[in-house]
Amino acid sequence: MERKTPLISPEDLRRQEEISDYIKTWWQGQGITPTAYVETYGCQQNEADSEQIRGILDRCGYGFTDSAEGADLVIINTCAIRDHAVQRVFGNVGALVHTKRRHPGQKIFVCGCMMGNPEISGRMKNSYTHVDGIFSPHHLWQLPEHLYRVLIRHRKAWAVEDSAGAIAEGLPVIRTNNLKAWVSIMYGCNNFCTYCIVPYVRGRERSRLPEDILAECRELIAAGYKEITVLGQNVNSYGKDLGMDIDFADLLASIAELEGEFTLRFMTSHPRDASHKLFDTMAAHPKIAKQFHLPFQSGNDRILKAMNRHYDRAKYLELIDYGRSLMPELVYTSDVIVGFPGETEEEFEDTIRLIERVRFDALFTFIYSPRPGTPAAELPDPTPKEEKNRRFDRLLQVQNTISEEKHRAYIGKTLRVLVDGKDGDKLTARTDGGRLVRLAGDDSLIGQFIRVTITDATTWSLIGALTP
Ligand code: SAH
Ligand code: SF4
Ligand code: F3S
Repeated sequence: MERKTPLISPEDLRRQEEISDYIKTWWQGQGITPTAYVETYGCQQNEADSEQIRGILDRCGYGFTDSAEGADLVIINTCAIRDHAVQRVFGNVGALVHTKRRHPGQKIFVCGCMMGNPEISGRMKNSYTHVDGIFSPHHLWQLPEHLYRVLIRHRKAWAVEDSAGAIAEGLPVIRTNNLKAWVSIMYGCNNFCTYCIVPYVRGRERSRLPEDILAECRELIAAGYKEITVLGQNVNSYGKDLGMDIDFADLLASIAELEGEFTLRFMTSHPRDASHKLFDTMAAHPKIAKQFHLPFQSGNDRILKAMNRHYDRAKYLELIDYGRSLMPELVYTSDVIVGFPGETEEEFEDTIRLIERVRFDALFTFIYSPRPGTPAAELPDPTPKEEKNRRFDRLLQVQNTISEEKHRAYIGKTLRVLVDGKDGDKLTARTDGGRLVRLAGDDSLIGQFIRVTITDATTWSLIGALTP
C-alpha cells in the first residue's frame, strides 16, 4: 500500500523558518522584545499543539507571559468537543476587546478545533472584529506566515480552508514541563462516532513515520524527560495509512526498548481496535506504564451501535478481563457519556452495571452535548435535561464510591512513583498506574523515581510517605 499522507516539504518548512527570522529581526529593529500569551483548551493533543505554537513564536522572537493583559500577541487554542467549551471560548475571546483597547498594538489569533468547523470559524470571523487571525489545526505550521500578514502587512489572516492535513515534521517545540512530554504519533480520526465533532475538525487519520517518532523520543530521554505519553485520537489504528509493516503495539515496543529510565504512556485507545497483542506488549515491557485509558462511552449495546462504536459490551469486557489476566495491577480509566439521544433509564442502568463490573480507578464523565453537523445531533432526544442531570449525579456517586474503595486498597502498599512537582507544601508524584500521590519530602526528589508507602487515600488521590 502506498503512503497516502504527504509530508510538508522541507522547502515549505524552510520558508516558514525564514519568515520567523524576518519577524524576529523586525521586532529587534524596533528595540522591542515582544510578549505572547497562549491559552489552551481541550485535550492533550491541543496541549501538544500549543507547545509547537510556543516553539514557533520563540523563533519569531517572542517571550511568554501568563496573562493576555499587555501581551503583544494572544493566541487562543480552542476545543469544540462540547458546547460548554465553545461558549467559554466565545466569552473569553469577547473579553479580549478590553485588553486590546488598553494595548492597541495587541494582535489576537484564535486557532484549534473550533476553527476547523466552518460555522464556528465563520461566526468568529464575522462577529469578533478585534480578532486578527484564525487558523485551523491543519494550518498551524504556517503560523509565521499568518503572523507576517497581520503584523507587517496589516491584514487579517484567515486560514481555515480544509486541506489534506499533511504532516509537518521538525517544528520547533517549547514544552511546558521538563519531566513529562507529549508526543503526537498521529493526527485526525476516521471513526466518526455519531456524537463526535473531532473527525470533522481534525480531518482523517494520518500517522507520523516511526523513525521520526523514535528520534523525538530518543532526544527527550537524552534531555532528561522521565515520562513520555504518545498521543492520538485512536492510537490503535496507528500505522494503517503508512503502508509499512508496523502497528501500534510494534511502535510502543520499539519506544519501550530505548535506553534510559523513563515511563511510557499512551492515549487514547478505541476498544474496537485494541488488540490482545497490545496487552501482551504492555505486559512484556516494564517501561510501559500499567495504565490503560479505554473509553467505553456506554454499557448498552443499542446505544453503542447508535454511537457507531463498532464493539459491544461483551467485547469491551473481554478486553478488560484479558488485560487483568496478564497484569493484575493494571489500572483502568475510561470516558463515558450520559444522556445520548434516546437513552432510556434501563439503558443507562447498563452503563452503571458496567462500571460496577469493571471498577475503574477513575472515570471522565460527560453529559451528551449535541454537536451541529454530527449524525447524533439529528436524533430525537426526548429525555429532559433534569433527568440527564439526575443520571449523571447517580453515575458520579457510584464511581466516587468505587474510586475511594480502590484508592483505600492501596493503603499499606509500597509503590514506585515519579515525583513530578509540588502542590502547596507537599510533593506530587504519579504511580505507574497514573494515580496521584502526595507526600512530604525534599524538593530535590522532583524528577526522580522513588519508592513510597501509601498511608492514606481520598477519592482523588493517595497520601504517601517516603520508604526508607
Ligand atoms: N478519541 C478519544 C476521545 C476524544 S474526546 C476516544 O475515542 O476515546 C474525549 C471524550 O469526550 C470522549 O471519549 C467522549 O466521552 C467525550 N465526548 C465526545 N463528544 C462528546 C459530545 N458530543 N458530548 C459529550 N461528550 C463527548
Ligand atoms: Fe471522536 Fe470517536 Fe474519533 Fe474518539 S474515536 S475522536 S470519540 S470520533
Ligand atoms: Fe477538543 Fe479538539 Fe481535543 S475538539 S478534545 S481539543 S481534539
